[in-house]
Amino acid sequence: MADNNKPPVDAAQKQKQDQQKRAVPTATVREPFYDIARWGTKPPPGEDLISTAYGDRVARDLAFVENEPGVHKPDPILVADNVVRRFGGMTAVDVGHFEIERHGITALIGPNGAGKTTFFNLMTGFDVPNSGSWRFDGRDMQHVNPEQVARDGMVRTFQLTKVMSRLSVLDNMLLGAPDRPGESMVRSLFPGTWRKKEQENRQKAEALLERFLLIKKKDDFAGSLSGGQRKLLEMARALMCDPKLIMLDEPMAGVNPALKQSLLDHIVSLREDGTTVLFVEHDINMVRHIADWVTVMAEGRIVAEGQPRTVMDDPAVVDAYLGAHADVDLGDDSVLEGLEGRV
Ligand SMILES: Nc1ncnc2c1ncn2[C@@H]1O[C@H](COP(=O)(O)OP(=O)(O)OP(=O)(O)O)[C@@H](O)[C@H]1O
Ligand SMILES: [Mg+2]
Repeated sequence: MADNNKPPVDAAQKQKQDQQKRAVPTATVREPFYDIARWGTKPPPGEDLISTAYGDRVARDLAFVENEPGVHKPDPILVADNVVRRFGGMTAVDVGHFEIERHGITALIGPNGAGKTTFFNLMTGFDVPNSGSWRFDGRDMQHVNPEQVARDGMVRTFQLTKVMSRLSVLDNMLLGAPDRPGESMVRSLFPGTWRKKEQENRQKAEALLERFLLIKKKDDFAGSLSGGQRKLLEMARALMCDPKLIMLDEPMAGVNPALKQSLLDHIVSLREDGTTVLFVEHDINMVRHIADWVTVMAEGRIVAEGQPRTVMDDPAVVDAYLGAHADVDLGDDSVLEGLEGRV
C-alpha cells in the first residue's frame, strides 16, 4: 500500500539538499591572515591546521550550480554585467553576466588574447570599459581608482610583475600596506602616532615573506630576484592589505617547478583563511587540482563555466583550447603534463 505521508520524490530531494546546506559549519572567528601566515600549511606542534571549512562549503554550494555561462551563484562577491571594452574595431571584452563565488578558488582560462588580463584591468580600475557595471561585495565599482579598489578589498597581481627593482624586498612589501602613516605630512610630525603602525606593517611584511620563502632576501634589491621569486613577492605584497578577493594573473608563469607546489599550497590556504581567489592560468594541471570553479573565456566572452572536471571534459572547450590535442583523455594526469601551457 502506498504511504500517503511520504513526500513526493522532488520534495524529498529538496529536503535532503536543504539539510545538506544547513549542515554546513558556520565560519568561526579567525585570526587575521598575517598572524597565521607563518604557519604555512604546517601547523606548529599541538595546534590544529587551519580549518578547511571554506573549501568544503564552497564545494558543496557550487555542486548545486548549473554548469552554464553567466549562471547565478549562491553567494557572489563580484558580479559583472554587460562589461564591454573595445580597442579600435576589436572587442577585447564582452562579458554579459559573470559572478565569482565568495570564498571559492575560481580559475579563468582561455587562449592567448581571450581578454583575461583586460577583464582584470577593468574590474580593478586599471582600465575603463566602454560600457558595463560591476559590483564588488555589494558596492558599485565603476569609476573607482585602483588604490581605492584595493582599499575596498579587491587586489590583483600582474601577468608581467611590477616590483620596484631598486627598492629592497621588504620595502616593496611595505608599499602594499594600506596605511602608511609615516608618509603622511601631518602625521609624520607626531612619531608616536605612526611608529606603532609602521612596526605592525613591518611584522606583517616579515611574516608574509617568511611564508613565501623570501625572508632571507628581505634586504636585497627586488631587482635581484628571479622571475618566479618576483611573482611570489607580488603575491605576498598583495596580501599586505588583507584582500577579500585576490586576482592572480598567471601566478605560476616563470615559477621554478620546485616552488610551484608551495605556491599551490599558498593559494589553497588563502581560501581556508576566507580570501576569495580568482586566477588566470595556462597550466591546466594547476587548474584541475585547486580550482573549485572554472570559467572559460574566448574572444572576450564567457563561453563556458562549471566544475573543473565537467568543463575540462566539455568537447567544445577541448576543441577551442587544446586544438590538435582534442582527442586526448583529460582525465589522465600524465596526458595533462604534456599539455601544460597549451590551454
Ligand atoms: N592596450 C591595448 N591596446 C590595444 N589592444 C589591446 C590592449 N590591451 C589588450 N589588447 C588586445 O585585447 C585582446 C585581449 O588581450 P588580453 O591581454 O586581455 O588577453 P589575455 O587573455 O590576457 O591573453 P594572454 O593569455 O596572452 O595573456 C588582445 O587581442 C590584445 O591584443
Ligand atoms: Mg593575459
